Amino acid sequence: MKIEPKFRGFICTAAHPLGCEENVKEQIEYVKEKGTINGAKNVLVIGASTGYGLSSRIVSAFGAGANTLAVSFEKESNGKRTATPGWYNTQAFEKFAKDLGGYHNSINGDAFSDEIKEQVINEIKSNMGKVDLIIYSLASPRRTDPKTGEVYSSVIKTIGENFSGNTFDFLTFKISNVEVTAATEKEIHDTVKVMGGEDWKLWIEALKEADVLDTGVKTLAYSYIGPKLTYPMYNDGTIGMAKKDLDIKAKEINELLSEVDGKAYVSVNKGLVTQASSAIPIVPLYISVLYKVMKEKGIHEGCIEQIYRLFSDRIYGGDLQLDSEGRIRIDDLELREDVQKEVIERWEKINSENITEISDAEGFREEFLKLFGFGLKNIDYSKDVEV
Ligand code: NAI
Repeated sequence: MKIEPKFRGFICTAAHPLGCEENVKEQIEYVKEKGTINGAKNVLVIGASTGYGLSSRIVSAFGAGANTLAVSFEKESNGKRTATPGWYNTQAFEKFAKDLGGYHNSINGDAFSDEIKEQVINEIKSNMGKVDLIIYSLASPRRTDPKTGEVYSSVIKTIGENFSGNTFDFLTFKISNVEVTAATEKEIHDTVKVMGGEDWKLWIEALKEADVLDTGVKTLAYSYIGPKLTYPMYNDGTIGMAKKDLDIKAKEINELLSEVDGKAYVSVNKGLVTQASSAIPIVPLYISVLYKVMKEKGIHEGCIEQIYRLFSDRIYGGDLQLDSEGRIRIDDLELREDVQKEVIERWEKINSENITEISDAEGFREEFLKLFGFGLKNIDYSKDVEV
């Protein structure tokens, strides 16, 4: 069938398999061009099918020549509807990884569950022996607690006071005001349950217990802070609370890992267009302005550029440059003073009339569609394609 983008609100409900494959190929080509990294050899990526997790898998396999085991939660096509982009990305990764050799396997299921943890451990024992890098890159709206069966939902809300600010519809480029209400205590608690570090720690405990952690193992969870401009919505909001929990859990995981000489890090990454970030009010407009400024300064990075730099310069380059909280800051270019000064100047005057001129709204839309495999130059979208 022919596949075109279909929207429900801000959610795109179709994905193009060949476009997704092309995306994966572009990332692989970027890594190959950049050159090899003396990195980990057996890598587990939790949340590996899209965004930062997918790039982490690609950099590990194609940059460091590592074996990769991936966990994600994606939907297969039912014949009438397409599969999710992450499903196609994973298929594409496996196709390209065949030429690489080594072991690459992908597990589709709920990473929060005990069953998937067990399945992963069995896979590691049978095919990898031990792992020396674990990337935790989940973004999920809900989590079922494996011990109690209780389902927790995350919300994107402020804490304390309601907030109102500019946001934009990246399909029409219209700016409007958005009101965000303050979260209840339960909503804060539940968001931390879903997006905080509890499950990350459960993973490391399970892997340690099963004796599949190599000496000197490293584990990373991805976080975001952003500029003061988005603090009410992000850093000081429910999601920021969950991210602070990652910092707490990183310390606890470090204690767990001391026996195997391992280290846990939170890596604070740059804000960019992914399915997860597009759902946060204000953030897409901020990212559009940021993209414009960073592109003009020649320092723009997407997922693959961020992760390549994170792995090559920081984790395996011997120069971690930790902040006072012990976090890796690969958001350094985003938060550079000159970048943020320019962003704020534009933010103060942005409106629906000048949005395409002073921000990269078009770039945002293109990137968003690209996440679903649309708008790629080498793909003929008028052709029928197998879903
Ligand atoms: P994404 O939405 O592109 O990817 C999320 C991944 O999690 C997918 O592979 C998905 O299949 C997987 N997943 C979701 N629920 C799952 C479950 N129950 N079991 C197994 N897999 C599941 O997200 P993105 O943006 O790459 O975010 C990854 C992490 O990076 C998040 O923690 C996010 O907060 C963080 N981050 C994102 C930034 C951004 O601007 N996008 C900036 C800095 C950090």
